[in-house]
Amino acid sequence: MSYAEIHFHLLPGLDDGPSSIEESMALAAAAAAEGTGTIVATPHVHPEHVTDVSILPDQVHEVRAQLAAERIRLRVRCGGELAHNMVWRLAASELETIAHGPPGRRWLLLEAPFAGFDDGYTAAADELRARGFGVVVAHPERALGPGEAWWAAIEHELTAGSALQINAWSVTGCYGEQIRSAALALLRRAPLAAVASDAHGGARMPALTLALDALTSSGFADARRFIDAAPYRLLAHGLPAGVREAAA
Ligand SMILES: [Fe+2]
Repeated sequence: MSYAEIHFHLLPGLDDGPSSIEESMALAAAAAAEGTGTIVATPHVHPEHVTDVSILPDQVHEVRAQLAAERIRLRVRCGGELAHNMVWRLAASELETIAHGPPGRRWLLLEAPFAGFDDGYTAAADELRARGFGVVVAHPERALGPGEAWWAAIEHELTAGSALQINAWSVTGCYGEQIRSAALALLRRAPLAAVASDAHGGARMPALTLALDALTSSGFADARRFIDAAPYRLLAHGLPAGVREAAA
């Protein structure tokens, strides 16, 4: 089974990811070289980046065409890394544009704020569930705030059936020991978790192979499941909105 990336800034010129189609292709080629078969293109849907998601499907088509022209074998899906303060600005049809999973089990990648979880994040996640979407929490290990509030926010999400997406660079220790330890604790705790590169280009290239080595060294048996079975399961089977998901 190939790997799948559910958090990856692949589309050019939209956010702090690649600035040109050439940089996008370099990212895609690096991902394909380490065994990735599917990338969900997740630009920041954020007040300072993409606010009109209707432009994204055409951008994805252009990237697919260039991949075909350059004979880079990758499937690309249209997604977005949704900032929690955008939730109330998007209509259901707009959320659908960046959602994944089969009908009735659609989910969104909701960005954990680097300043730490707060009531606004939980309210946004609850609002998505009320509107029929499940939630995949993007890089919760990078939202470390006061320990008690951090765990409370995560427990709220896990109880509600959310999945977690942990960054590959976090498990390698690139962001320090505190974040690495948090990432490993979350992977042990969450019933359903996937590791993704959150690649942007520059220093943040695809890192699933590095993450796999780091997880194996940290004692995870069958660490590959975090980068193949788990993300493909999310894409194929989705998440319930507001119901605890059975263990992976
Ligand atoms: Fe991201």
